[in-house]
Amino acid sequence: MSENIIYCYSGSGHCLNMAMSIAKVLGDTDIVMMRAFPEKTDATEARRVGFVFPCYGGGLPGDVESYVKAIKLAPNAYTFAVEQYAGYIGCGLHKIDEIVDLDYWATVSNHSTCIWLMPHTLTVPPTSKKNAQKRLDRTAEKVGAAVKAFERSAKKPPKNSLFAAESAGFSKMHAARSKKFAASDACISCGTCVKVCPRNNIQLQGGKPSFGRNCIGCLSCVQFCPKAAINVGRITEKRERFPNPNVKAADLSKKIIHID
Ligand SMILES: Cc1cc2nc3c(=O)[nH]c(=O)nc-3n(C[C@H](O)[C@H](O)[C@H](O)COP(=O)(O)O)c2cc1C
Repeated sequence: MSENIIYCYSGSGHCLNMAMSIAKVLGDTDIVMMRAFPEKTDATEARRVGFVFPCYGGGLPGDVESYVKAIKLAPNAYTFAVEQYAGYIGCGLHKIDEIVDLDYWATVSNHSTCIWLMPHTLTVPPTSKKNAQKRLDRTAEKVGAAVKAFERSAKKPPKNSLFAAESAGFSKMHAARSKKFAASDACISCGTCVKVCPRNNIQLQGGKPSFGRNCIGCLSCVQFCPKAAINVGRITEKRERFPNPNVKAADLSKKIIHID
């Protein structure tokens, strides 16, 4: 059993990159992926239990809320969370806090990965990919040191009731959008999309991806396709992809990543 567990959701790899960097500071950490039901929900032997995730539609991505409810913690476990966002933090941290009573929390902004909505470069204030990564690295160092020292945040995460409404409607909105996923002639039938999909929602039929109706909008298939062949309608055709450069598609499809 590892001393620390970080539960992580990540679509384009930026939150996984951050979870790995925090784990390197802590040592002896299991990163348990939460894109599908987590492989390990019994965390009662861990001293520190963390959550690293992005803001999606003003709230938590996928089924993260119900997954977190299934996790068992020791009564004296130290808990922490880090949320990444492009424009606003929404209500995700508050939702996690309601379930696990967070001791420490932090946020960090990054380029956007919801490229069906806007180009990833439309950050406020604008910054380069290189500087955005430096910001993630600095935050991971700071969070890692704080968590190692069992620091506590002075305030609770904000409730942001307005975003709770956005979050509640997001999965319905996404269900309509999920019908628009398609692969272009640039597809080389490598099957990366099949491997990174957390919901087994993609199958190769006649060598080309076929998309089911069980999509949670993580965009891993769009972001990690080596030929940028997967699009959501026409809008993403000309948009640059932005997967985290330090994360491979194979990392994203693991269930647990151990960092010594
Ligand atoms: C489906 C989707 C919805 C998103 N919704 C929001 C949002 O409501 N607010 C926001 O600030 N960022 C939003 N983002 C941006 C992500 O929170 C941000 O880019 C994050 O760094 C992505 O982390 P990841 O690479 O681990 O998936 C969204 C991204 C995606 C793919």
